[in-house]
Amino acid sequence: MNDKNLDSLIERWISPQVRGLSTYHVPDASGLVKLDAMENPYIWDDALVREWLAQLGSTHVNRYPDPEAKALKQQLKKIMAVPDHLELLLGNGSDELILLLALAVATPGRTVLTVEPGFTMYRQIALMAQLQYEAVSLTPDFELDIKATVSRIRSTQPALIFIAQPNNPTGNLFGEQNIRQIIEAAPGIVVIDEAYTAFTDSDHLPLLAEYDNLLVMRTLSKTGLAGLRLGILIGDQRWISELNKIRLPYNVGVLNQVSAEFALRHYSVFEAQTANIRDQRDGVMAELSGIKGIRVWPSDANFILMRTRQGCARQVFERLRERGVLIKLLDGAHLLLQDCLRVTIGTPAENRQFIDALKASL
Ligand SMILES: Cc1ncc(COP(=O)(O)O)c(C=O)c1O
Repeated sequence: MNDKNLDSLIERWISPQVRGLSTYHVPDASGLVKLDAMENPYIWDDALVREWLAQLGSTHVNRYPDPEAKALKQQLKKIMAVPDHLELLLGNGSDELILLLALAVATPGRTVLTVEPGFTMYRQIALMAQLQYEAVSLTPDFELDIKATVSRIRSTQPALIFIAQPNNPTGNLFGEQNIRQIIEAAPGIVVIDEAYTAFTDSDHLPLLAEYDNLLVMRTLSKTGLAGLRLGILIGDQRWISELNKIRLPYNVGVLNQVSAEFALRHYSVFEAQTANIRDQRDGVMAELSGIKGIRVWPSDANFILMRTRQGCARQVFERLRERGVLIKLLDGAHLLLQDCLRVTIGTPAENRQFIDALKASL
């Protein structure tokens, strides 16, 4: 192998946009209490696992899966109370749906717009799809700057806007009036990303009846099925059928379809877990609010954004890891996130361990 030749081949043929990206980094969590990735901390009880395995045992993998995942979509529509006239598009996580949306609008010079700090995949995927990327800064308190947002929408005319509600990593909602203003100012598609829908009372599905340019995206990841990778896009059948043209035919495997169908038949288990996580969130929030040297922001999600004293976030993060707790270090990820950390709500025991470790780490 000739290293120089390989380097120059890569430089010549891999696009500059791709070369400029970095791989999505997932830290090793082995042996740690994992509170860094907004997962549901609960595993299934033995009876549920046995029933699930029996189901998998009678599933055959020699055939391709149903490309339309019809049975699964029916169940999802029922559980999410999606009106009959709306359609679903399923993805390998909502990450894949973000990619499909970006590819569907991608022609030279077009723009994807979002707010920052926000979910990092919007930028990554926009750049992958060779789209221009515009980010409007939130206020220092992570509120939406609606004037700046509308004005940037007017000046950049984005083909696609992503707004996560609640927002990641800030955990807050921007308010329905503001969301309406964004949708009304947008010339193109607006996607409200409700990844954290299980932890909030806010619901943007009703707005689909009012706005032609709106799509709502959800995922089963945060509800308790992150390992299955199942994202859901909801909208008018005409949008969905355009996007369906670029979806790879068998993007949701048969084991995932069968497992998700099984899990949804036991949806009350997940509802109880997420309700419990919501309660836990309020408890963790109250405890964090009482810790000197920590500032927290309200959260409608299964995580909490907090700020340490100036210059201390990395040290706190590392001390927590030494004490066996992995959370997310956000300092350095965005100007507004200086000294910030994000913790995912875990089981009561995990939350206790986190709070105790945090107090000992400050
Ligand atoms: C706002 C938001 N959207 C989408 C995702 C991706 O979810 P999925 O696991 O369905 O790809 C995340 C994951 O953290 C997220 O925070």
